[in-house]
Amino acid sequence: MKNILGINFGHDSAACLIINGQIINAIEEEKMSRIKQDIGWPKLAIDRILKENNLSPRDIDVISLENVFPEQLGENEILYRFTKNKYFKILEYFGRFFQFVFCHKRINVKKNIKLINKLINKNGFKNVKIDFHDHHLSHAASAFYTAPFVSDLVITSDGRGGNSSFNFYKVGDENLELLHSNSYAESVGVFYSNVTEILGFKANRHEGKITGLAAFGEDTKLVSEFKSLFVSDINGFKRYPIQNIKNLWDKSNVKREISISDKINLYTSSSSLSKEYGIRNLLLKEKMLELSNGYSKEDIAYACQKTAEDVTIQEFKRICEKYNYLNLKISLAGGVFANVRLNQLLFETKYVSNIFIHPAMNDSGIALGNAVLSDLNYSKKSRVINSYKIKNTLLGANYANELKTFVGNFNSAKITMIKMKNPAKEIATLLNNNKIIGLWNNSMEWGPRALGSRSIILNTFNKDVNQTLNDRLNRTEFMPFAPVVLDHMAKEYFPKFDSNIPAAKYMTLTYDTNPIYKEILQATVHVDGTARPQVIQRNESELYYDILDEFLKLSGCGALVNTSFNAHEEPILSSPETAINSLIKNSVDYLVMENYLFHNKLN
Ligand SMILES: [Fe+2]
Repeated sequence: MKNILGINFGHDSAACLIINGQIINAIEEEKMSRIKQDIGWPKLAIDRILKENNLSPRDIDVISLENVFPEQLGENEILYRFTKNKYFKILEYFGRFFQFVFCHKRINVKKNIKLINKLINKNGFKNVKIDFHDHHLSHAASAFYTAPFVSDLVITSDGRGGNSSFNFYKVGDENLELLHSNSYAESVGVFYSNVTEILGFKANRHEGKITGLAAFGEDTKLVSEFKSLFVSDINGFKRYPIQNIKNLWDKSNVKREISISDKINLYTSSSSLSKEYGIRNLLLKEKMLELSNGYSKEDIAYACQKTAEDVTIQEFKRICEKYNYLNLKISLAGGVFANVRLNQLLFETKYVSNIFIHPAMNDSGIALGNAVLSDLNYSKKSRVINSYKIKNTLLGANYANELKTFVGNFNSAKITMIKMKNPAKEIATLLNNNKIIGLWNNSMEWGPRALGSRSIILNTFNKDVNQTLNDRLNRTEFMPFAPVVLDHMAKEYFPKFDSNIPAAKYMTLTYDTNPIYKEILQATVHVDGTARPQVIQRNESELYYDILDEFLKLSGCGALVNTSFNAHEEPILSSPETAINSLIKNSVDYLVMENYLFHNKLN
């Protein structure tokens, strides 16, 4: 028996516990620390996991990490990620500067591994074995092994993980086998992030806004110009044609939009791979800025989305044609597959019969992938079967005890608390009266989507609610909020819905909406007629389902708006206190925590 702790200590840091071959918990650090996309050793997530399972660090047999960190981070960067002490970050920059001036190599993998061992030891994990895995294989593992079916093909696509950005894995006789890899230099994710930044948003965080904005844009010449940045032949993508990076860099017409500090940072990157990656990326960004000049934000977003779709599908098609693939069951992971529209188009190709996207498709999923890969190393399980199937995403922290204490001690002059006799009916009535409800359940979700445990729900009847919600939560979303839909209504609202396809369970795919229902579902239907539903069954969450069911009886509509319960730039909320704060800030009209209803008397 092994207790295995999978860790991601890059951005979106997270921890995942496997005991006896079962995934027990998976928690993102940001939800514990309240720092969006927190980076580094996920201390609070680990503490939470150990506490909930009555374990001490000494009970952990294996800690599972990814190999990119010892291979590409400087010593002081590693120290910073473990301690979060800014002093080490300053030393890291000094180190990079000396490296740049004196051209010496700073990365010593063996020394780094020794340091990581020492730091892990210092955190109380004695005699623990430390494993390292490849970033993309870890993404692939998170998708393949947790899917409800055995996939024929696994696809990973992100900005960059090690040297790769877009990989295909087939299921071999004994293992997942890498079929084809595209390097970081042809990254669809980096291309998309560059546009995100060009349009004034944060790369690696706000890509979803570009997907939303794209539906308002038009087809222009920019599409073919963006596409020309991806050069391919029968063997796949070729590197972006920068033959001599340094030469071009020297000659390039540097635009003012790219800050000097960005450039210094890149020239002094900790490893030569990071440096080359960074310089290529800047050159690409400059080229993209030049191409985008004169186009509206909407048209740039359109060209970005269309390019990402066409390039991804073209490469997927090439692989399928080469290997005579048809009717594939595919599973996906990596940040690019947070793009729900792209997932729909992949699914609609003739090559795909079923699709699963790991719910934590971003880098937090690496913690789970690492844990699974290590567990396979120590078990006799087959590596070509989906032995770590997940039934839902409720792998996060469980606050049942905290809620009990919170309710027991509750005393507020501003907020009322009542125990509901018939929660589903009472909540449905409020929803029918246009009230906005914060829905909080004990167990938190794993992954960036709120699926009923930390959700804001309201009726779908009025398009203005998007603006109302954006205002109250201080958000700027271009895509309408997503609907949660009763299983028996889903086919009616979305004719292509099929209950055998798990993607709608996790809100990872868009569907075309039946035009008859566009009016009633209007708050959740995008200008292009698509919506990205979460379709639920009663055995997954009784209260959530019953609320919808009662709402259907009252209103004739089997869907509600479901958006994550957090304000702008905040992580999804966690404890009862964070939920009450949200009510105090007027983000919602009512707060439901299990059977308790809270209301701000002032509103
Ligand atoms: Fe990644």
